[in-house]
Amino acid sequence: MCGLFPFPLVSGNSDKIDELRRRKAKSQSGGGQKRISAQHAKGKMTARERIQELLDEDSFTEVDALVEHRCRDFDMDRNVIPGDGVVCGYGTIDGRLVYCFAQDFTVYGGSLGEMHGLKICKILDMALKTGAPVIGLNDSGGARIQEGVASLGSYAEIFFRNVRSSGVIPQISVIMGPCAGGAVYSPAITDFVVMVEETSHMFITGPEVIKTVTNEEVGFEDLGGATTHATKSGVTHFTAKDDHVALDIVRELVSLIPSNNLDIAPSIETSDPLERSCDSLDTLVPEDPSRPYDMGEVIQEVLDLDSFLEIQDGFAPNIIIGLGRLGGQSIGVVANQPMHLAGCLDIDASVKAARFVRFCDAFNIPLLTFVDVPGFLPGASQEWGGIIRHGAKLLYAFAEATVPKMTVITRKAYGGAYDVMSSKHIRGDYNIAWPTAELAVMGAKGAVQIIHRRRIDSSKNPEQERQRLVDDYEESFANPYKAAALGYLDDVIVPSETRSALVKALGAILEKEEPRPEKKHGNIPL
Ligand code: HXC
Repeated sequence: MCGLFPFPLVSGNSDKIDELRRRKAKSQSGGGQKRISAQHAKGKMTARERIQELLDEDSFTEVDALVEHRCRDFDMDRNVIPGDGVVCGYGTIDGRLVYCFAQDFTVYGGSLGEMHGLKICKILDMALKTGAPVIGLNDSGGARIQEGVASLGSYAEIFFRNVRSSGVIPQISVIMGPCAGGAVYSPAITDFVVMVEETSHMFITGPEVIKTVTNEEVGFEDLGGATTHATKSGVTHFTAKDDHVALDIVRELVSLIPSNNLDIAPSIETSDPLERSCDSLDTLVPEDPSRPYDMGEVIQEVLDLDSFLEIQDGFAPNIIIGLGRLGGQSIGVVANQPMHLAGCLDIDASVKAARFVRFCDAFNIPLLTFVDVPGFLPGASQEWGGIIRHGAKLLYAFAEATVPKMTVITRKAYGGAYDVMSSKHIRGDYNIAWPTAELAVMGAKGAVQIIHRRRIDSSKNPEQERQRLVDDYEESFANPYKAAALGYLDDVIVPSETRSALVKALGAILEKEEPRPEKKHGNIPL
């Protein structure tokens, strides 16, 4: 009778199901309660807790929970933990599919061995195939020392995939613990890095190696903490006071960007009236052109209420970048900030804005640029640091971008920086100015000094003559009307009408097409 029965007996099945449950439970418990408690004691969540909080409730499906390492050196065969120190899978954020992985510091310090790395590769491959964003939660001691070159091989497989996916799917890295050595290069290639204050560190070589090699004494936090990378290096785009805030930032970021390069940028209903008058803007720009004002106020006024997410706010504050919404449509904003360095473009500002412009262009996010720029920052250190090469990046990025481009000149647009900041000539689609705008080769004082030096020097009253010439120059050139007469501006508008003008323009150009010559890729001055 038994021989004829096609299925195993129920009791046999239940043993196998028990075995499966036992294996899954082992994988769920990571490195054990003691290490989980140690993780909590540091103010850090576990890998699984992080994923639960990142994704919509009950949306996570785990992949590869039963993967094990195959290292036999250093007695590693006696310490096999299913899952191999990284939790991988997919789920949703606001109902949209995302792939994610979270390194589990409680298992071999989250270190990346061969199989741990290949699990991440599988997630990156699935995200690319399905056109979904990928989010990496990093908390790792780096290359798993016991696995040697196999670990390095897996790292490189990840790097290759990060590069292959760049510009195809958004990639976001959250640093929630150590991230050292070559391991930093995966986050560095991804589109956005979020670092948690105090618990996360990123560096190529740690304090001890630096001490040995260069004799410099520097602590972990100073060397590679969140504040350092947010203000000095520009490596991180966001800092968060704890794991919860970091995960909130990721959710907000995902809501503002499309899932892949073939998708259109997200658009939602907005309760902020499209025709809302921005009255405060009529009096914002000071009469004295050397006095600063806050360009952040312009952005807040014009965009949909509370929709602006500033990126890299502590790095190169002379330029503001960020994502927000205009009439419900996701847009990218680039704006000179007169409160810092008078809004000049320097090396850091150029690089910061150029990479952001390229992100927006890759992912079909329209660009809105606010201009108040006296020029590129003068100085030997800027010249020697390569402002020519770095400034060219921003020019290249704006000129290359084929997404809808809108530009508002609020005050100064001088010299080469006028051309660079999404001018009509590099294919701005809707270029407008306020009556306070000054489009010129340079400011009045500098111009008069160069073209009227002899006249001033030979005058009976040089100071009076200089002032007269400055006033003349300002009247003739320090305005938007010469540029408007040439068609370099599509319009000059009352500042309070900026929001409604931009909403209408965006509607008109949203689906524009702008083909460029076929090529393998351009050669941006890196
Ligand atoms: C294997 C590791 C490990 C690693 C940590 N662990 N890092 N195991 N390979 N790289 C293990 C520890 O042995 C320990 O195991 C557990 O993880 C927790 O580590 P602790 O040291 O107890 O934790 P903590 O005091 O918080 O210090 C964390 C740490 C430190 C700062 C990350 O562990 C550390 O310095 N690790 C080495 C970092 C490193 O040099 N990595 C290589 C970098 S170069 P038990 O069993 O005791 O709990 C690199 C190159 C990448 O990564 C190249 C890519 C191309």
